[in-house]
Amino acid sequence: PHKIILDCDPGHDDAVALLLAHGSPEIDLLAVTTVVGNQTLEKVTRNALAIARVANITGIPFAAGCDRPLVRTIENAPDIHGDSGMDGPELPEPTLELDSRHAVDLIIDTVMAHEPNTVTIVPTAGLTNIAMAVRKEPRIAERVKEVVLMGGGYHVGNWSAVAEFNIKIDPEAAHIVFNEKWPLTMVGLDLTHQALATDEVAKRIAAVGTKPARFVGELLDFFGEAYKDAQGFDFPPVHDPCAVAYVIDPSVMTTRRVPLDVELTGTLTLGMTVADFRAPAPDDCNTSVAVDLDHQKFWDLVVDALQRIGEV
Ligand code: BDR
Ligand code: CA
Repeated sequence: PHKIILDCDPGHDDAVALLLAHGSPEIDLLAVTTVVGNQTLEKVTRNALAIARVANITGIPFAAGCDRPLVRTIENAPDIHGDSGMDGPELPEPTLELDSRHAVDLIIDTVMAHEPNTVTIVPTAGLTNIAMAVRKEPRIAERVKEVVLMGGGYHVGNWSAVAEFNIKIDPEAAHIVFNEKWPLTMVGLDLTHQALATDEVAKRIAAVGTKPARFVGELLDFFGEAYKDAQGFDFPPVHDPCAVAYVIDPSVMTTRRVPLDVELTGTLTLGMTVADFRAPAPDDCNTSVAVDLDHQKFWDLVVDALQRIGEV
């Protein structure tokens, strides 16, 4: 199985990403770290621990990370994720205790404790923790196998006309992460807007019939309404598990190697992820973008993970 660190801000779709990672036999989940984003650090961390309780995830360290972006003022997303950051289902009191380390240190320790080229970092939130980690311990840039992140978009924005939330809330951190030496795959909005939780998907999840599956159903009900009201979607795009799915089975999507960078000085384009498609990517290009999703295969992975998690 692929060893991953999930860095997240649960978040409805982060929750699905965590359950997919936990339930997939192809993933060895080494650590879960949280960062300010959809809601305050305190709320998203509480949510991560609540998911752990719902799915009985134990024996893995969970650590809280940065409570604000590197430079910018905090921006949360209550219109999409509600006041708790994960509105909809009842959130159980956490039973798991947080790791005493800061997430940045847990990320560094985990990468350094494993063989080079074996750990994939999967960020599904702002990139503050990851930027801090690689600044504090630059050796992780060569040791990490790959960074597969949900964020950005080469043709689509959602937090501005051209920028996506995870990048826009901490563009300086994203700039650091996108310009490191590690191979990086950007699973952006171009891809995740294809990962719609249609009525058929909701039915498949309901048919699993377990408590964790009902929890996901309730999350997606709220998420669907929020996306309808705030962004005019018929069905919600379930962004974050797409990055996990790519690690499980890269054939779930097509990708294209292309130079990428993050806009830091544009007055209209701050946080835009700029992909340069003009020429074939140069040999030293270490960045790729996700293009087309196999919708059926993607949801098969999610449903299969829920079935494996079973009744806890
Ligand atoms: C991203 O922003 C967050 O609200 C979601 O959890 C996802 O990571 C989508 O733009
Ligand atoms: Ca997220």
